[in-house]
Amino acid sequence: MIRSVVLGIGSHLPEKVLTNADLGTIVDTSDEWIVQRTGIRERRVAAEGELTSDLALAAAEKALADAGLDAQAIDLIVLATSTPDNTFPASAVTVQDRLGIRHGAAFDLQAVCSGFVFALSTADALLRTGQFRRALVIGAETFSRILDWTDRTTCVLFGDGAGAVVLEAREEAGGNADRGILTSHLRSDGQHKQKLYVDGGPSSTRTVGHLRMEGREVFKHAVGMITDVIEEAFAATGTGPDDVDWFVPHQANKRIIDASAKKLGIAPEKVVCTVDHHGNTSAASIPLALDEACRDGRVKPGDLVLLEAMGGGFTWGSVLLRW
Ligand code: ACO
Repeated sequence: MIRSVVLGIGSHLPEKVLTNADLGTIVDTSDEWIVQRTGIRERRVAAEGELTSDLALAAAEKALADAGLDAQAIDLIVLATSTPDNTFPASAVTVQDRLGIRHGAAFDLQAVCSGFVFALSTADALLRTGQFRRALVIGAETFSRILDWTDRTTCVLFGDGAGAVVLEAREEAGGNADRGILTSHLRSDGQHKQKLYVDGGPSSTRTVGHLRMEGREVFKHAVGMITDVIEEAFAATGTGPDDVDWFVPHQANKRIIDASAKKLGIAPEKVVCTVDHHGNTSAASIPLALDEACRDGRVKPGDLVLLEAMGGGFTWGSVLLRW
């Protein structure tokens, strides 16, 4: 049987830092309110002209360097984003072109904040068919472009950034039996569309639109949905919270992260949390957090790593992998 094994990881953040104090000069808010409700202290914002594909490319190049691979080794690129450079072509083909790759396939995947989990699961499935050998799975966003900067209930929550991993299809036999993606569980339910959406798009308004959210409603559903798909991952693999070395959740809000870990029985010291300095970077949040935890030596080869996300749609999902 084929397993998708992570060979490398990388991430990239725009230079410009936007603190809660900075936001206080734009809308009627305060550092105290934002920190208390979300745990966010600062976030990064892309410069004028800095595109989602620029962030994605920088993250991809770092992931390739980490894997010790040339870009020509890649034959599949799945880029999770809700903020592509253009309506089409996919930002993934821009990344493919800028990496100088002329073979294989590249496409964008849109599942909002669950995008990276959906992209990992999709790339894993494609690698296991044998059609592709090595994939770049990227989460990249410039949510700053779709925020209503006069709406304090949403503009304080999000940030820009990108993260990427390199996946390789390997035969399970031959010393790799333990490594790679063990299971993934994806869900969606469109009846919640109005609770978190962008009020524009080529078909409906011919504009890009702005993010709209019923924050309390999202919060109400988040923990239950997250814990459901994690219980499914545990059941599928015969594992449990004590087996998890690192829990790397989507970074939307510290209260959602803490409540999910508590409900699952995952010890707080196993939770990777970067929402304080990244904000919610949607599809980029998990690979950004994972990269930080790899760089600082927390996540090590052989560790059991649990990823989860929930976002607009609603969409939600989990991936359990052996690093
Ligand atoms: N600064 C100051 N006051 C604010 C701000 C702000 N930035 N935003 C809202 N308020 C005010 C409201 O106007 C309201 O005032 P009122 O009582 O006078 O009417 C008060 O604060 C309380 O507002 P609520 O919306 O009820 O605040 P709540 O405690 O629910 O916190 C929050 C809001 C942080 C958005 C919370 O609901 C939440 O975290 N929801 C989850 C949303 C989320 O994470 N979405 C991300 C995308 S989905 C995902 O990634 C999982």
